[in-house]
Amino acid sequence: MPDTPFIPGDGDAKLAPAITGGLPTPADQTARQRDRDAKPAHDPREQSAPQTTPVVPLGKGEPLLVVRDLRKYFPVKRGVLARVVANVKAVDGISFGVARGETLGLVGESGSGKTTVGRCILRLIEPTSGRIEFENTNVLDLDSGDLRRMRRNMQIVFQDPYASLNPRMTVGAIVGEPLAIHFGELGASERADRVAQLLEKVGLSPDYRKRYPHEFSGGQRQRIGVARALATNPKFLVLDEPVSALDVSVQAQVVNLLQDLQDELGLTYLFIAHDLSVVEHISTRVAVMYLGKVMELAGRGALYEDPLHPYTKALLSAVPVPDPAVKKTRILLKGDIPTPLNPPSGCVFHTRCPIAQFPICSAEVPPLVEHKPGHFAACHFAGESLPATTDPEGLTATLP
Ligand SMILES: Nc1ncnc2c1ncn2[C@@H]1O[C@H](COP(=O)(O)OP(=O)(O)OP(=O)(O)O)[C@@H](O)[C@H]1O
Ligand code: SF4
Ligand SMILES: [Mg+2]
Repeated sequence: MPDTPFIPGDGDAKLAPAITGGLPTPADQTARQRDRDAKPAHDPREQSAPQTTPVVPLGKGEPLLVVRDLRKYFPVKRGVLARVVANVKAVDGISFGVARGETLGLVGESGSGKTTVGRCILRLIEPTSGRIEFENTNVLDLDSGDLRRMRRNMQIVFQDPYASLNPRMTVGAIVGEPLAIHFGELGASERADRVAQLLEKVGLSPDYRKRYPHEFSGGQRQRIGVARALATNPKFLVLDEPVSALDVSVQAQVVNLLQDLQDELGLTYLFIAHDLSVVEHISTRVAVMYLGKVMELAGRGALYEDPLHPYTKALLSAVPVPDPAVKKTRILLKGDIPTPLNPPSGCVFHTRCPIAQFPICSAEVPPLVEHKPGHFAACHFAGESLPATTDPEGLTATLP
């Protein structure tokens, strides 16, 4: 494929909805302003508020993105006056950095706040508080023009390749839309050339540009989503469960494609998944989230071979092993993840933790501490082994 250089300009085209839930429309901007006006001020008396400057686990090398003490509370409103009666604490004070060229895996159960983190980073939703520094600029300080320019460098691939592509637009229009938005000075033939290049880059024929999304399989649709995200030559991609909706056989192909693109284009990824096995091969480091907080963050090897947090141990024990001769003890966590509307006091994991001790675990929020170089965990008893079990089905956590 000819790799002609792509010349960025400063287009002023209107945002068209090629993807649902994607880039914001003017209505979104107004809604965001309303959200910002109505946003619940963070109450420092709340139990979950940190008392000290948060630790920010950075990767090796120059940081491209640094997230500091990020919170996103969704207000719950009641009555004719729409008074805020409670907050859904979707993200509750998380900090991490992503170094240039690395992949940070972000893993956690459904509802732990992963998508909210990804959308806050791109300001598709407005965070309640915190800082998001991209190349040393706080994204939250940018006005709409600067934010649009910044978004050329930060793009997102959505989880659901069926819902995220506009069924009424051709593939060529979908992939070409970011070019119209960000590089409006490109002529029609230059844009068509660029779309053809992008389709080839993700392993699709340029002839597909006249077809519609429903004519493609899930894996092909996700490739279209990746091509669209790459259109502006970004440096950073949020990959929100990009393979979760795909068949297992197709998952590996898409993960391999993402790895090849990363090598070729020098991309940096935040790779969101709910399963540790999905991010194992692609991640440089992995962060484990639970109820809006980071429980553990470490390099891939350290996290998989020597996890320190009981929640990580439980997640790892659920990862299937291909060799039937290898016996694993499964740690079964009782119950579902609690609601972020009313998270447990102290350590948010204490209602399901097999080694919780009281009163400390229900009274004191464990800070994220660097226990070994580059290996962070938020647990008062990090590294303690879980109780042994004789149950062949695995260990059932004893609830307090
Ligand atoms: N717009 C919203 N208004 C109110 N609550 C919301 C909103 N968006 C998300 N939430 C809540 O925030 C919490 C975190 O949601 P989020 O989608 O970030 O989780 P997730 O880890 O991505 O889950 P999944 O694995 O299911 O995608 C959930 O309890 C969810 O119900
Ligand atoms: S702080 Fe306590 S409840 Fe939380 S994970 Fe550690 S041992 Fe379990
Ligand atoms: Mg999600």
